[in-house]
Amino acid sequence: MSELKQDKRPDVRVNLGGLQLDNPVTVASGTFGYGREYEKYLDISKLGALIITGTTLAAKTGNIPPRIYETPSGMLNAIGLENPGIDVFLKEHLPYLREKNVTVIANIAGNTLEEYAELAAILQKTTGLAALELNISCPNVEKGGLQFGTSPKMVAEVVKAVKNESSLPVIPKLSPNVTDIVEIALAAEEAGADALSMINTLIGMAVDIRNRRPVLGNIIGGLSGPAIKPVALRMVYQVYQAVNIPILGGGGIMNYEDAIEFFMVGASAISVGTANFVNPRASIEIEAGIRAYLLENKLSLNELVGIAVR
Ligand SMILES: Cc1cc2nc3c(=O)[nH]c(=O)nc-3n(C[C@H](O)[C@H](O)[C@H](O)COP(=O)(O)O)c2cc1C
Repeated sequence: MSELKQDKRPDVRVNLGGLQLDNPVTVASGTFGYGREYEKYLDISKLGALIITGTTLAAKTGNIPPRIYETPSGMLNAIGLENPGIDVFLKEHLPYLREKNVTVIANIAGNTLEEYAELAAILQKTTGLAALELNISCPNVEKGGLQFGTSPKMVAEVVKAVKNESSLPVIPKLSPNVTDIVEIALAAEEAGADALSMINTLIGMAVDIRNRRPVLGNIIGGLSGPAIKPVALRMVYQVYQAVNIPILGGGGIMNYEDAIEFFMVGASAISVGTANFVNPRASIEIEAGIRAYLLENKLSLNELVGIAVR
C-alpha cells in the first residue's frame, strides 16, 4: 500500500534558478489576484507558486472600461495594472499568503528603472517571498511595460537594476510582441536573470461593428488563452535552445496535455492564467494530470523537459 502510494507521487519538485517549487504548476500574474478569491475552490498551499497580480509602487486604478472581451479561443484584456500598490500588498495581502503557507512570487512593474529598483529594495526588506517576476511586458500601460520588454538593452538594464537590490531569484517576464525573442532572452540571461517567464499576452484589438468603435476602452489589449498557445510553444522551443537558465512557460494552458507540451519544448515549470477564469480548479487539476502522465509514461519531470527538442 505504501509502495503504491509512493508510486502515485512521482517527484515533481523543481529548482527554477534557485527558486524551489514543490511542483511545477504556478498561477499566472493578474489571473489569481492575491489568492483570496480562489480559497473556496482549492487549497492554495498546494500550488507550485502563486504569482501575484502585477504590483506597482503607487496604487493604480487601471484603464477605462470595457477592459475584458472574449474572443474566439481566448480573451482580450486591458486592465492596465489595477492594483493597490506595494504598501497595501505588504500590509494586507502578504500576511494572508504567509499564513496560507503558499510559495509567493511577486510580480512587479515600474515606469522607470528606478521604480523597478525601488520595488526590489522594498521587497528585499520583507520575508515570505520566493522570487521576483519582472513585468516588463505589459501591453496595457502607457509608460514602462512593453517599452522595457521589447529592447534587449532595456531588458538587461531592468534585470541588473533589480539584481543589484535583491537576493531573490529574478525572473523577467518576456513579451511575445517582438521580432526576435531569442535576442531578448539572451540579453536577460547575460544581465543575470535566474530564470525566464514567458510569454505575456499578444497585443490585439476588437471592433464593435454596431458602435463602429474599438471594443476596449484602451483600444488595444493583451490576447491570452488557447489562441496564443502555438506562439508561446514556438517561443519556449526557440529560447530553450539558446539559454542555460530555466524557463517558466505559459500561454493558453487549459489542461494537463497543454502543460506537457510546454515541458516537452523546454519549460521546467508552467503557469496557468486564463484557464483560472474558466475553471478555478484548473491549476490543481493540471498538476494531478501531470503526475498521472509521468507515472503512466514512466518518465521523471526532468526527462520530460525538452524531450521534443533533442
Ligand atoms: C486579466 C488578466 C490580467 C493580467 N495581469 C497581468 C499582470 O498584472 N502582470 C503580468 O505580468 N501579466 C498579467 N497577465 C498576463 C498573464 O499572467 C499571462 O502571462 C497571459 O495571460 C498568458 O497566459 P494565459 O494564456 O494562460 O492566460 C494578465 C492576463 C490576464 C488575462
